[in-house]
Amino acid sequence: MNELDALVDSARAGFAQAATPADLENTKAQFLGKSGRITELMKGMAALSVDEKKSRGAAINQAKQAIEAALTARRQALADAELEVQLKAEALDVTLPGRQRGQGGLHPVSLTLERIEAIFGSMGFEVAEGPEIESDWFNFTALNTPEDHPARSMHDTFYVEGGSDKAPNLLRTHTSPMQIRHAVQHVKRHRAAIDNGTGMPEIRVIAPGRTYRVDSDATHSPMFHQCEGLWIGENVSFKDLKYVFTDFCRTFFESEDLVLRFRPSFFPFTEPSAEIDIQFQSGPLAGRWLEVAGSGQVHPNVVRNMGLDPERYIGFAFGMGPDRLTMLRYGVNDLRLFFDGDIRFLSQFR
Ligand code: PHE
Repeated sequence: MNELDALVDSARAGFAQAATPADLENTKAQFLGKSGRITELMKGMAALSVDEKKSRGAAINQAKQAIEAALTARRQALADAELEVQLKAEALDVTLPGRQRGQGGLHPVSLTLERIEAIFGSMGFEVAEGPEIESDWFNFTALNTPEDHPARSMHDTFYVEGGSDKAPNLLRTHTSPMQIRHAVQHVKRHRAAIDNGTGMPEIRVIAPGRTYRVDSDATHSPMFHQCEGLWIGENVSFKDLKYVFTDFCRTFFESEDLVLRFRPSFFPFTEPSAEIDIQFQSGPLAGRWLEVAGSGQVHPNVVRNMGLDPERYIGFAFGMGPDRLTMLRYGVNDLRLFFDGDIRFLSQFR
C-alpha cells in the first residue's frame, strides 16, 4: 500500500472514531487543515520537476478528494445519529392519557345560592334579581326607614356618585329593596284584578344577590350576600313564615334534627320583627343558637309602598345571609376565605 492510500485509510479510521461533530472537525484539521497532512504533502512538491509535479499533484488530489468524501459521509452519519437521538427523546407516547384542562367548579357561596333557589323554588317561590347600585328610595325610604335611622349613616353605607343630595345613589346595604321592586311590578301586572276585587295571585319571591356595608373582619366583608324572601297574600301569617323557614333550614342542612327560635327584634320594614336562630341537636355545632336571618310581618307602610291596601294584603319577609349559611354548612370560620380567591381553598368545594 502506498503512502497516500495509507493516509486515506488513517483519515477514514480517524473520522470513524470521532463520536461527535466537534471531534470530527478536530480530526478533519489533522488531514485537511492549514497545517494538515495534505497541505504538508503539497508543500513537499516544491522541489519536484514539472512532470513529477503533475502526477504527484494528481495523486495527492485524489487522496484529498477521498478524504473529503469520507469526511462528508461521516458528517452525515453523525448528523443522522444525532437526529435519531433527538427523535427518540421527543417521541410522542400515544399511549399516555391526554392532558386535561383543570377542572373548574362553582364558588361555595354560589353553591349555597343554587341550593337556596332550588329549595324555595320547590315551595313555589320565584327568583328575582335587582341592581346593586340602589337609590335611597328603594334601599331606605320605601322600606319605612326614617331619615334619622342609623343604618343611613356614612359608617354603614357606601354612597356612590350620581343621584341627588336628597336621594343619593348607594350600594344596596341589603336585598330588601327587591321587596318593593318586585312587588311593584307584580302589582302593576295585576292592577285590574286587584281593583275589581278578584285579587292578585300571591307574591312569593326570593331575591339573592350581593350587598355592601362598610364593615370588615373575620365575620364581616364589605361585600357580602343576602337572600331576601317575600310572601304577600290575603291570608299569609307568621305561622307560614315559621313553617316555610323551618322546612327550608332542615332541607338546606339535611337535618331533621334542627330547631328554630324566633327572637323579637326590630326592623323598620317589619312589625312585628324577629331574628331567626337555629340550633342543631347533634353534630359539631349542637346546642348553640346560630342567627341565620332577620324576618317579620311586612309593615303596613311598606305594603302601601308596594301599591297594595294593607287592610287586605299581608305577609312576611325575611333576609338571610348565604355566606353565613355556607360557613355553617362546611364548618368554615373565617368569611374572608370565601373572597380571597385562593384556589387551594375554593377547589375543596368542587
Ligand atoms: N334587611 C334586613 C337586614 O339586612 C333583614 C330583613 C329582611 C329583616 C326582611 C326583615 C325582613 O338585616
